Order: sequence, then structure tokens, then C-alpha cells
Amino acid sequence: MLTLRLATSSDQDAIWDIFRSVIASGDTYVFDPQMPREQAMAYWFQPGARVYVAEIGSRIVGTYLLKPNQPGLGNHVANAAFMVCPKTRGQGVGRMMGEHCLTEARRLGYRAMQFNFVVSTNAPAIGLWQKLGFEIVGRLPGAFRHPQKGYMDALVMYRLLTDSSC
Ligand SMILES: CC(C)(COP(=O)(O)OP(=O)(O)OC[C@H]1O[C@@H](n2cnc3c(N)ncnc32)[C@H](O)[C@@H]1OP(=O)(O)O)[C@@H](O)C(=O)NCCC(=O)NCCS
Repeated sequence: MLTLRLATSSDQDAIWDIFRSVIASGDTYVFDPQMPREQAMAYWFQPGARVYVAEIGSRIVGTYLLKPNQPGLGNHVANAAFMVCPKTRGQGVGRMMGEHCLTEARRLGYRAMQFNFVVSTNAPAIGLWQKLGFEIVGRLPGAFRHPQKGYMDALVMYRLLTDSSC
């Protein structure tokens, strides 16, 4: 059974395992595939971010962070980032974290959610975000340097949280 909870600092070993395996392929996030653990965990657990983990039993299989997309007068729009352990993909963990994130964001008073940099070749993520009600509102030509495909577009995706759907 899949459960979601806030992460604690004692989850960092498991989160780092997932983080490292996600960035190693260099095809979904801008993070340097060689990024050291300390830097990665400082980013994931940055001040103002809420970090969650998804567990099957006591095994952490996914993690996401939720934070304001901008400070000050833009802080009513949330931003989030998601990572699922490669071995556990396609089993509904990403969808459950996405739905949980939308619920949490609403509960915390956010009025919208924005993803700033969805790599245009990342079909599983784009498909999932569209199913969860996000629209592509912008395209950044060649903004991502894909290790195999070269300069690829990045997408800005957005959804309001003030409607009643999802
Ligand atoms: C994106 C990611 C979080 C999805 O997690 P997941 O656990 O594999 O996703 P799920 O099993 O919950 O599948 C979610 C949905 O996406 C759909 N999907 C999967 N691959 C797809 C594809 N190639 N095209 C369209 N939809 C796709 C599934 O059909 C599923 O839909 P359903 O819930 O209606 O059945 C995961 O692949 C991941 O961690 N990727 C690496 C990091 C990343 O890309 N993060 C997001 C950056 S924007």
C-alpha cells in the first residue's frame, strides 16, 4: 500500500538514492548528473520547501517538494518537483504524489501551481501533468541541453487551484 507523509532528515539516504538515479540520466532535470549529495539535499530541503515521501511499506519509492514559485507578491503560486524511483515507475506513484501535492497546495492556500521547466521530451511527466489539469502555457526554445538529443525546448505548465476539479 502506498502512503504519503512529510519527510524528515532521516529520510535523506533514501531520497538521495532516488535523486541520484533520476539526475544520472540527465534527461529530465537541469541538475548536473555529477551533483554532490550535499548540494542536492540542500536544494531539496531548501528553506520554505515542504518535502514529502511516498512509501510502499517502509520503502521510500518517491519524493516531491512543494514551495512558493516566487517570493513576496508571487508566493500564492506553488511550485513542485517530483521524483519516482526508476524501478517503481508506471505503478501510480507519480499520479498519487501529484494528486496529493494539489490537495496540499490548496490546503496551504496556494491559488495556482506552476512548473517552470518541463523538458519537452519528458513524455511521462507531460502526460501526467496534463491528466492532472495542467496546461502548457509557454515554451522556451532550446532551453534544455539533452545529453543525447541536443538542445530541446522546455515547457512552462500551469493550473489554477481555485476551480473545483481534481
Ligand atoms: C514523471 C514521473 C514522476 C511519473 O511517475 P510514475 O510513478 O512513473 O507515474 P504513474 O505511474 O503515476 O503514471 C502517471 C500517468 O502518466 C501516464 N504516462 C506514463 N507514461 C506516459 C507517456 N509516455 N505519455 C503519456 N502519458 C504517460 C500514465 O499512463 C499514467 O496515467 P494514468 O494515471 O491515467 O494511468 C516519473 O516518471 C519520474 O520520476 N520521472 C523522472 C523525474 C521527472 O521527470 N520528474 C518530473 C519533472 S517535470
